[in-house]
Amino acid sequence: MHIAILAGDGIGPEIMDQTIRVLEALNLPDLKLSPALVGGAAYHALGHPLPDGTLSLCKEADAILFGAVGDPSCDSLERHLRPEQAILGLRSALGLFANLRPAKMFDGLSDMSALRPEVAAEIDLLIVRELNGDVYFGEKGVRTNNKGLREGYDIMSYDEDEVRRIAHVAFKAAQRRGSKLCSVDKANVLETSQLWRDIIIEVSAQYPDVTLDHMYVDNAAMQLVRSPGQFDVVVTGNLFGDILSDQASMCVGSIGLLASASLGEGTRGLYEPIHGSAPDIAGKGSANPCAMILSAAMMLRHSFGLKSQALKVEQAVAAILDDNILGADLGGQHSCQQIGDAILAKIV
Ligand code: IPM
Ligand code: MG
Repeated sequence: MHIAILAGDGIGPEIMDQTIRVLEALNLPDLKLSPALVGGAAYHALGHPLPDGTLSLCKEADAILFGAVGDPSCDSLERHLRPEQAILGLRSALGLFANLRPAKMFDGLSDMSALRPEVAAEIDLLIVRELNGDVYFGEKGVRTNNKGLREGYDIMSYDEDEVRRIAHVAFKAAQRRGSKLCSVDKANVLETSQLWRDIIIEVSAQYPDVTLDHMYVDNAAMQLVRSPGQFDVVVTGNLFGDILSDQASMCVGSIGLLASASLGEGTRGLYEPIHGSAPDIAGKGSANPCAMILSAAMMLRHSFGLKSQALKVEQAVAAILDDNILGADLGGQHSCQQIGDAILAKIV
């Protein structure tokens, strides 16, 4: 079990420390953790957010645990040197095209949701976000238009194979869950979305047991706060998935609770919380490590097939939340370290 440990920037290192403690407590056979620099931390030390050494380590490793990237001191750098390019570069270089972002209400936390507790209590959904295409990876730049004005542009595109492969991931995920799939697009306006919808419908013929429907992204954003319980699996493109997954996190109570897995064709995956580096609270010891620890649980399940160990970690997190061991993000006073201690106590 060779795991690349990329803590990154901001609160990344503190949440990663707690995650490593949890992994070590599980007494996993042949656990090998290899730390490396990424993001702003790598830029400051080595001049690049995704140094060659970090990329080659990730290619050798069986799985990657990723904290967060983002550092305000890098905001004025050229785009290719900014911390965010590290995660985008890894997703693309490793062919990690499927991002699974589950959102489920934890017992006892529905009061913390931005939604009414009875609405929030119903949340149990999975966002399947495409991760290698869309406006994220299209040609982009700033040009001078025919009025002599500077004009920014980013090209949105998906080819049919890109849509097909994420469609299969989403339909299969739906088969393992409630057999309902909602594809989110903006086909009333965007050609990219019309093709997306056509291909999703074409692939659906192979999954007659899954009920498929389609929703425009603006409506989906509204439905997600109106009645999130209607969703089982949601499949969408890179940009819409980025936005809807942050929204889903607040429906669950805190962005500090949502884990994610980025997967490609094989078993190698990159596992990261959906939150960012939170520079405003970095170094204060007040970050919530739950999303990072739950991401490690996703790793145990997806990359290593260790279902019972994954469950043990997930149950430990659910149990401490139920015990009201909450950090500042959930209105509590427990530190990152104390939350880690409480989770460890449930595991050993
Ligand atoms: C995420 C993040 C990233 C993204 C950023 C850090 C580039 O917001 O993983 O959701 O936009 O994909
Ligand atoms: Mg995001």
